Amino acid sequence: MAGRTVPPHRAVPPRVAAAEQVASEEEFKKSCIPEVGRLLGLAAAAKPHGTIAESGTGSGVGTAWLHSGLGPDARLITVERDEKLARRAAGVFADDERVSVLTGDWRLLERHAPFDVFFCDGGGKRDDPQAVVELLAPGGLLILDDFTPSPHWPPRFDGEVDELRLFYLTHPALEATEILTTPASSVIVGTRRA
Ligand SMILES: C[S@@+](CC[C@H](N)C(=O)[O-])C[C@H]1O[C@@H](n2cnc3c(N)ncnc32)[C@H](O)[C@@H]1O
Repeated sequence: MAGRTVPPHRAVPPRVAAAEQVASEEEFKKSCIPEVGRLLGLAAAAKPHGTIAESGTGSGVGTAWLHSGLGPDARLITVERDEKLARRAAGVFADDERVSVLTGDWRLLERHAPFDVFFCDGGGKRDDPQAVVELLAPGGLLILDDFTPSPHWPPRFDGEVDELRLFYLTHPALEATEILTTPASSVIVGTRRA
């Protein structure tokens, strides 16, 4: 609506806008949606002294949402295997030494673990879910997006039991649940039991 102002608590943080601009310039279409982004900011803010990690930086949109909740003593490590995306995303955070953008495979994150928040979004989530769980600190939060809500138990996707979703939701080391982010998409949020 013309002239309508966005309430401050719904505004997109400037760094998110900058990373979205990079995504647009690089024709990168896989950035997280704002509904997920706000959850990322909340999770980072819940761990003000924490080590926050992301696999799959993309153009830095998810990183920027995590950054929106980053405490002064926290640090944020993200990894992207696409060199150009990693370089461009790093530019969005060049003025903040709390943020490290690594270039390479997601396993580069291992040397920085354990994590108080882990947004696992590119590498790990599907290829080594057990390793993902093991990178969490006790009480650490795991966030996984891009699921399709299922009314069934066990959850199904395309008519088949979604074994990956089941793995995370029933993992004995995790207290985990699925949350709708839009009517057509969900995230799994889990915390590692102490
Ligand atoms: C869904 S996109 C990431 C979006 C970003 N996290 C955000 O929220 O805006 C997934 C990214 O993971 C990267 N990726 C995929 N496999 C990877 C791996 N094994 N190691 C590092 N990055 C990986 C892809 O290049 C892609 O940029």
